[in-house]
Amino acid sequence: MKTLLTVATALMLSFPAYAADELQGNAEAGRELAQSRSCVSCHGEDGSSTKPYFPNLAGQNEVYLVKMLTDFREKKRVDPTMNAMAGKLTDQDIANLAAFFASLNK
Ligand code: HEC
Repeated sequence: MKTLLTVATALMLSFPAYAADELQGNAEAGRELAQSRSCVSCHGEDGSSTKPYFPNLAGQNEVYLVKMLTDFREKKRVDPTMNAMAGKLTDQDIANLAAFFASLNK
């Protein structure tokens, strides 16, 4: 019982800590990066993708975008295009890109 409580408490504490640890994203810097790294050529200037097989990113949850870009960078999510696109992004780049796409209207 004591072990279960300890595990439950650790889990509860780890989620807010994860969110609080995140870098503050700058949407304007993210927009510039999305253009200079050509993200917008597939995902659209307004986050509405240019082809049906590219996902729309406008208005997507920021935390989710950070997680997906980090997963692509670490190759925990495998997609040759996105692994290459995310490969050289820093944590701050990822935070900025996520803030930018999350800020767009769906
Ligand atoms: C050549 C087209 C292309 C470019 C350029 C591109 N992407 Fe992608 N992106 C894709 C495709 C295709 C997927 C879906 C991959 C899969 O099937 O797992 C994707 C998936 C994603 C996802 C996950 C979306 C979800 O719903 O899970 C994010 C976030 C993302 N891209 C962000 C970016 C960012 C940021 C850049 C620029 C650094 C970028 N992409 C550049 C084609 C592209």
